[in-house]
Amino acid sequence: MAKSIGILTAGGDSPGLNAAIRAIGRNALNYPDMQVIGFRDGFRGLMENRTIRLDESTLSGILTMGGTILGTSRDKPRRMPVADKILDMTDKMLETYQKNHLDVLVCIGGGGTHKNAYHLAQSGLNIITLPKTIDNDLAMTDTSIGFDTALGIATEAIDRLHSTAHSHHRIIVVEIMGHNAGWLALGAGIAGGANVILIPEIPYDVEVVANAIRERSRQGKNFSIVAVAEGVLSKTQAAILQEAIEKKEKAETKEEKKLAKAEVKKIKAEQSEHLSALTRELESLTGLESRVTILGHLQRGGTPSAIDRLLATRLGTACVSLINEEQYGVMVAARGENVVAVPLEEVAGKRKTIPLDHSLLETARKIGISLGC
Ligand code: F6P
Repeated sequence: MAKSIGILTAGGDSPGLNAAIRAIGRNALNYPDMQVIGFRDGFRGLMENRTIRLDESTLSGILTMGGTILGTSRDKPRRMPVADKILDMTDKMLETYQKNHLDVLVCIGGGGTHKNAYHLAQSGLNIITLPKTIDNDLAMTDTSIGFDTALGIATEAIDRLHSTAHSHHRIIVVEIMGHNAGWLALGAGIAGGANVILIPEIPYDVEVVANAIRERSRQGKNFSIVAVAEGVLSKTQAAILQEAIEKKEKAETKEEKKLAKAEVKKIKAEQSEHLSALTRELESLTGLESRVTILGHLQRGGTPSAIDRLLATRLGTACVSLINEEQYGVMVAARGENVVAVPLEEVAGKRKTIPLDHSLLETARKIGISLGC
């Protein structure tokens, strides 16, 4: 049966997106009655009906390219900035889908994209998603496109930071992405030989961190690498945030809710800027000169690792099989060596953080890494 496929990439870019687009496109073009178009810049391109034909020539030479040939954005169908207003543009997107006579829209993205894709599925579109995020925080899939590459980059960064930390007898606090999950920091921290790893799942105590560093000094190791996930909180900060969240949940009037929401936002913003304060505190508690390195978007850039290329290709081709079977409303998830279709309602709005009994935490502790508590 003839199939018209639309693809979009949304949310933060990540290595392996092009490999996924290529896999879907190449596999689909094997069928004489399938055709594929891409929408530019995520859900905004869907709203504005900005398309690109994905044929042999556009799909050629993109396997090793970072980013996404389609472009991306963080725009949401229900809260789209349009001419100084925030509007629900869902209907416009449904219109584009009809205009292009699509049979299915494939959305490749992370947590935000899955919420938006589920919304479009509930609005009547045939949707399939592919998991993409360097944060590895999507529920119901073992891993996501981009995570392995980012893990490699962050690990190499920690390797390289060792030279300066060691030569100058310094503490280097290195911030690693991950949104509100510690997968990237924990993985890169262990693989890169960090001495302390702080993750959002475990609020830290600065005294415990300082003690771990002082203990290293006593053993003659006058340098330390502290790998910090970007969403991390100290125990005190976690308690303040929790209180604000509870207040928000209990708020009754619209005004109270607005104030409480603003308070939570303010605390989160302040907390995201506390890295230099932590570094100064460690310096004064340990007597070791300290520096901060923020890896930032370097972690998402450049060519995808072989693992990500394989994952993207595997998920992309499985996606085409699902389209052939007309199995819609699902995410194409990686489970061990297998690929499985998971209903979108089991993914949308859920976040996969590190369980406190995860074996990697135990592994870290067993080799003497401090987790700050
Ligand atoms: O979700 C991927 C991610 O890189 C997070 O790790 C980070 O918090 C966020 O995106 C950064 O977003 P932006 O690219 O919009 O600054």
